[in-house]
Amino acid sequence: MNTIFIAGTDTNIGKTIVTGLISSILKDQGYNICTQKWITTGYKKNSNDIKTHLSIMKSKKIENENLTMPYCFKFPASPHLSAKLGNRKISINKIKNALKKLSSKYDFVIIEGTGGLFTPITNKKVFIDLIHELNIPVILVIGNKLGAINHSLLSIEAIKNRKIKLLGLIFNNIATENKKILNSNIETIKKISKAKVLGILPKTKNISMLKKCLKNSILNFPINCHS
Ligand SMILES: Nc1ncnc2c1ncn2[C@@H]1O[C@H](COP(=O)(O)OP(=O)(O)OP(=O)(O)O)[C@@H](O)[C@H]1O
Ligand SMILES: [Mg+2]
Repeated sequence: MNTIFIAGTDTNIGKTIVTGLISSILKDQGYNICTQKWITTGYKKNSNDIKTHLSIMKSKKIENENLTMPYCFKFPASPHLSAKLGNRKISINKIKNALKKLSSKYDFVIIEGTGGLFTPITNKKVFIDLIHELNIPVILVIGNKLGAINHSLLSIEAIKNRKIKLLGLIFNNIATENKKILNSNIETIKKISKAKVLGILPKTKNISMLKKCLKNSILNFPINCHS
C-alpha cells in the first residue's frame, strides 16, 4: 500500500496545495515521491495541478504526463461532461495501469482527486468507486467555510460505509468568514466524526508556513499509513 488519495469536500478548496505539501514533507523524509491526478479538466499546459505539486516539492518534471495525468480535458467541468464534449471516452483500466506503473517505481504515489468523492468519472462510476476498488487510503481536505460540516460529514460517512481507510482530516481555513464559524466547524466535525485531525491550515500564500503546520502531524506518517 504505497498510494494515498487526497480527496476534498469540493472543488477549489486546497487539494492541490495539500497534495504538494504532503509530497514535499515525505520527500524531505527521504522518500521517492510522485504525484498523480487521474483526470484534469480545464487543462492548461503551463499551469496545472501536477506543475503546482512539483513546484511545492521543489522538484523537476519527474514522469511522463501520460502516467501522472492520464486524462486531461480542456473544458472546465465534471470529467464525464468534459470527456463527452471533447469526444473522448475515459477508460478505468488506463487509470489503473498508470497507477500500477507509478507505484512500482516510487515509494509513494500521492493522488489528487478531482472535485469531491462523488464527482463522476463516467456515467456509471464516481471517484469513490475507484478508490474503493483500488483500496486506497484517503486524506480528506476540508475547505473550511459555511456549509463545511455537511460536506465533511457526508464525505466521511461515504468513506466509512465502504470501509475505505481514512488516514485523517486536514482543515483548510480558506474562507474569510467569522472565526467563530470556522473554529466551531472544526470542533463539530471532530466530535461527530471522531476522525483524526492531521492539520489545520491558516489562510496564507506562504508555503513554508503551511508546510510547518502539517509537518508535526505527518512525522512518522508513512509508518501510520502502512499500519
Ligand atoms: N490555506 C490557503 N490560504 C490561501 N489560499 C489558499 C489556501 N489553500 C488554497 N488556497 C488557494 O485557493 C485556490 C484553490 O486551491 P487549490 O488549487 O489547492 O484547490 P483544489 O481543491 O485543488 O482545486 P481543484 O478542484 O481545481 O483541483 C488556489 O488559488 C490556492 O492558492
Ligand atoms: Mg487541484
